[in-house]
Amino acid sequence: MDGRAAAAADSVEVLFKPLRAGALELSSRVLMAPLTRSRAALPGNVPTPLMAEYYAQRASAGLIIAEATQVCPEGQGYLATPGIHSAAQVDGWKRITEAVHRAGGKILLQLWHVGRISHVSLQPNGQAPVAPSPIRARTKTYVASGYVDVSEPRALRTDEIPGVVEVYRRAAANARIAGFDGVEVHAANGYLLDQFLRDGSNQRDDGYGGSIDNRSRLLFEVMQAVAAEVGSGRVGVRLAPVSSFNDMRDSDPAALFRRAVERLDALKIAYVHVIEGDTGGARDIPFDYAALRRCFSGAWLVNNGYTRELAVAAIGSGYADAVVFGRPFIANPDLPRRLRENAALNPPDPGTFYGGGARGYTDYPPLA
Ligand SMILES: Cc1cc2nc3c(=O)[nH]c(=O)nc-3n(C[C@H](O)[C@H](O)[C@H](O)COP(=O)(O)O)c2cc1C
Repeated sequence: MDGRAAAAADSVEVLFKPLRAGALELSSRVLMAPLTRSRAALPGNVPTPLMAEYYAQRASAGLIIAEATQVCPEGQGYLATPGIHSAAQVDGWKRITEAVHRAGGKILLQLWHVGRISHVSLQPNGQAPVAPSPIRARTKTYVASGYVDVSEPRALRTDEIPGVVEVYRRAAANARIAGFDGVEVHAANGYLLDQFLRDGSNQRDDGYGGSIDNRSRLLFEVMQAVAAEVGSGRVGVRLAPVSSFNDMRDSDPAALFRRAVERLDALKIAYVHVIEGDTGGARDIPFDYAALRRCFSGAWLVNNGYTRELAVAAIGSGYADAVVFGRPFIANPDLPRRLRENAALNPPDPGTFYGGGARGYTDYPPLA
């Protein structure tokens, strides 16, 4: 690099170069992370007009990845999270995608099945949550009565797995009907697909457990089904190779995620979105993300604790194609502008992250 190229690579303007990810044309590399805010209307977990206002306020993101959204009733793990399996939900989301598009933005839906991270009070007929293996996670969830331990799950039978793939396929079809620009499959943070991937939660002895190819089979089948529905260029995936969030662990994450990403690359999906380190926590857990990236030819999105300076370095150096911001977008609807102008950021208020109404949701002020 000559001096001028090096200076340009250090400049915040690298964040504002357009990016093509598969079939997605993104106006910048400052993207909004999926953020559960637990404000869907009950009963029915239906997206609301307030949610449309919240997302439209953030339409200056190069891409909004909307909050994790259950693909079926069994896929729900927390109170008041939205779904994409009923007609009322599809209708509610339609208003949101229209509001974001009117404001000039792009929006994907994050497809979610929580697997074992649920509670019987949220499950149809009070049944046990499903999981790869009957291993209860040592973590809590939020239900009508407050925070509670997650319930003991039951293992999915092999003959039930095609039905799981089918609910993802239908959810992707519904997302298309609702006007989303694409979907992100949530395979991170200890939810169902991550539970199949990692051997701390998957102790199956059928074709979906044991070897790395077997443990990544469900993710691969889901991605194939979803890509067939919306087009592979409109599908991304979120992975968290070393995050311990939701009581997760694996004996060899480097080998597991390298193979998983190689298989995803063959599907020609738009992007891989990696949470580096512990979700919302330590970034310095050893893992060779650059080596993982070399297994993938599409766009590479990175997340977790990124600041303006880290983002400029990540993109300027070519380490990543885009940076995905979570908490900063909660508190700063105009985050891209603030980064560009090096303006101060509003601090997020964790007390209003989940549930409630407009306070701590749509009332964070933009710059004057
Ligand atoms: C309130 C809140 C809700 C979240 N909901 C989701 C979610 O729905 N799906 C997901 O993949 N990650 C979720 N996360 C994780 C974030 O997407 C992101 O990985 C994390 O906040 C780290 O990024 P940050 O340091 O930029 O905030 C959530 C995080 C927070 C704080």
